[in-house]
Amino acid sequence: MVTLVQQIKSAFCIVSVANVDNGVQITWKDGHESFYHNLWLRDTCHCPECFQRDTLSLNSGEGEGHDPLKMPLNPIIEEVKCDREGNLDIIWGGEEPGHHSVFDPSWLRVHCQKDPTLKQGRKPQLWDASLSIPHFDYQEVMQDDDALLLWLEKMLELGVVIIDNFPKNKAGFQALIERVGLIQQRYHPTHIFTLDTANKLAGNIHHAYQYMERLHNHTDHVSYKVPPRLQFLGCIEYNNPDNDRQAYSTLVDGFKIAEVLRRQQPKFFDLLTQEYVPTGRRRLGVEEKVSDREKGTKKYQWETYHRQRVINLDENGEVYQIRHHEKDRVPLDVSPDKIQDLYAAYQAFTTLAESPEYNVEFLIAPGQVLVNDNWRLLHGRTAIRNPQLRRVLLGAYMKPETFRSRRRFLLGEKSGMSDIWLMGCSDRALEILADRTTL
Ligand SMILES: [Fe+2]
Repeated sequence: MVTLVQQIKSAFCIVSVANVDNGVQITWKDGHESFYHNLWLRDTCHCPECFQRDTLSLNSGEGEGHDPLKMPLNPIIEEVKCDREGNLDIIWGGEEPGHHSVFDPSWLRVHCQKDPTLKQGRKPQLWDASLSIPHFDYQEVMQDDDALLLWLEKMLELGVVIIDNFPKNKAGFQALIERVGLIQQRYHPTHIFTLDTANKLAGNIHHAYQYMERLHNHTDHVSYKVPPRLQFLGCIEYNNPDNDRQAYSTLVDGFKIAEVLRRQQPKFFDLLTQEYVPTGRRRLGVEEKVSDREKGTKKYQWETYHRQRVINLDENGEVYQIRHHEKDRVPLDVSPDKIQDLYAAYQAFTTLAESPEYNVEFLIAPGQVLVNDNWRLLHGRTAIRNPQLRRVLLGAYMKPETFRSRRRFLLGEKSGMSDIWLMGCSDRALEILADRTTL
């Protein structure tokens, strides 16, 4: 069977070109045909006059190649051909006689506007309680770019991985996160925080530190306009005298339970995608010292509110983000005729989020780092009944663009293409360009 990627790879070879209807028609080796408007081709010219190769940006201004006010709306092609290296080669005529553009065929193919596969994102693999979480080795992801890319691919596919054998200290934890990118600056005084069951005062700061209770599945920082994307939780110590499942982590695939709701109770699904369930947080002058290992305390103020929806859809109607935190809810912003239905929908979602059918329950063991996608997964913790139980976790977050940027760089490197063509490709285009070199 010929896979999509193989089809596209073979399609990177141009078989014929023709100048038709104000554009260029290309026939590819796989028989696919693409059409590029002359203005689009002229506007994307990568010649040194139009495109700054050192800064990787357009020359865009008075007297420069891409001055939009000077760009002819009907550029005329004098000559078009496929050159000896397989590139599309255009000599322009009309108002710009002799202007010369050369286009990489792979780049052209991943910008074909008539190929619907280029518009489709990679589908996440939805899971339930039967999930087995993928594991990666710390040293391997630290040293090997292929392992790092594989890890980041799993974050999109499943939304969760466990990294084994991390040095059980802050420096080792930080190094792992920075292998992907910058740690997200928090609004709290600490960017890497410590969850330590021995710190009894911490419960005054946040409910997540009230260890005797089960911490229900939730996503973090729902009251931020843009919640953190990746959450890192690294275990330094776990000592449980009862040797049972206290302080175990729980995870549920938010995309999965949203789809279950869409199928089983479409009216509830629609309500949670359309109506607002606002969230907020207010702390004034709180002293944050969540671990004895942290020296001193700093006071900070923090006050947020977000008129958020629980299930968020993209332009194709696909779920791209879940925001759900029961304890961070503030008064509902809903008309009286809808409140009962909205509340019933919220109850249905919350029930699914706690359902054993969709929950995985496991221990983050000392030396392991759990990494989860906070836009997709809901996380929680089983209760701690025994006050003698000691658990110490390090935690930190990463912004969506930081994660995405590293993955784009890694895909670009794997593609083997030069910076001038990688710059400005969509994520989907980079995935296809990267895959094509592995065949
Ligand atoms: Fe949390």
